Amino acid sequence: MNKHKGLMEMLESADGILQKGGAASAKPEEKPIVENYSLDGLNLKGNVPLGKIVSAVRSFRDGTRRPAVDRPRMSILLSGVPGGGKSAFARYLANEVGAKLRSYRASDLLSKWIGESEKSLAAAFNVAEEEKSILFLDEVDSFLLARGEYSRSWEVSNVNELLQQMESFSGVLIAATNLVRNLDSAAMRRFTFKLELDYLTAEGKRKFFDRYFSSPLTAAEARRLDAIDNLAPGDFRTVKEQLFYVCENETNAERLAALEAEAAARHVKARIGF
Ligand SMILES: Nc1ncnc2c1ncn2[C@@H]1O[C@H](COP(=O)(O)OP(=O)(O)OP(=O)(O)O)[C@@H](O)[C@H]1O
Ligand SMILES: [Mg+2]
Repeated sequence: MNKHKGLMEMLESADGILQKGGAASAKPEEKPIVENYSLDGLNLKGNVPLGKIVSAVRSFRDGTRRPAVDRPRMSILLSGVPGGGKSAFARYLANEVGAKLRSYRASDLLSKWIGESEKSLAAAFNVAEEEKSILFLDEVDSFLLARGEYSRSWEVSNVNELLQQMESFSGVLIAATNLVRNLDSAAMRRFTFKLELDYLTAEGKRKFFDRYFSSPLTAAEARRLDAIDNLAPGDFRTVKEQLFYVCENETNAERLAALEAEAAARHVKARIGF
């Protein structure tokens, strides 16, 4: 009874911390999972397929298979290009294992008040621990820059708090970043799996084209698609949405031109250093 009351107070005060001072509350659930979601075609670097990660998380959560190590952890670092599928995978994974996803961006938790960021972080971990939800920290680079990069002690203290929380957390943590190279090395060590989602391969582009537009490509159109470098799943989503608004009966030529424009826009951004 007392234990239950204590827990309720902790959850309430955790949400209180998250709401205070403009820091956003834990979003109850992220967006629903992508309608036509499939792991097929994603360009995962590394040798552990995403399907295996899903089953590893499932058995970790139900306790059926745990490795013989001290304090088994299940923490997954998703890195890679914008639109590569990191957030969508986190939502898919939570859905597959029947868990709630508690999702936070750095801006939800980082506060300008000294000491508040650490409290918000601790509250996020506590809530996930008690609810047995999956904790998703998006833009984790904002918390976990290598400590040498920080000039102020309170920034180092955020990193330390996160490392501490990761150490004692017994739930499933997913973190996502576009900037894996800048991450603190002690933090890197604490991730059980480090996965990278890169731009799609030629085969992946065709699969995504098919999935999003269900319209067979002629040989010439397929070559045109192959020739577009640096396409990510997010580009297919964006183009589908764009054309929905501006085209009555869209053609493959319009789809390909729009995909080319997305890739070209990214190229310009990279050149001028966004
Ligand atoms: N496996 C998939 N199947 C179908 N669509 C997908 C898949 N993965 C991603 N998408 C689509 O691509 C969009 C972008 O993916 P997501 O938001 O996961 O990218 P991200 O890697 O988190 O990008 P960012 O680094 O910018 O946050 C999603 O909203 C979804 O529409
Ligand atoms: Mg994302």
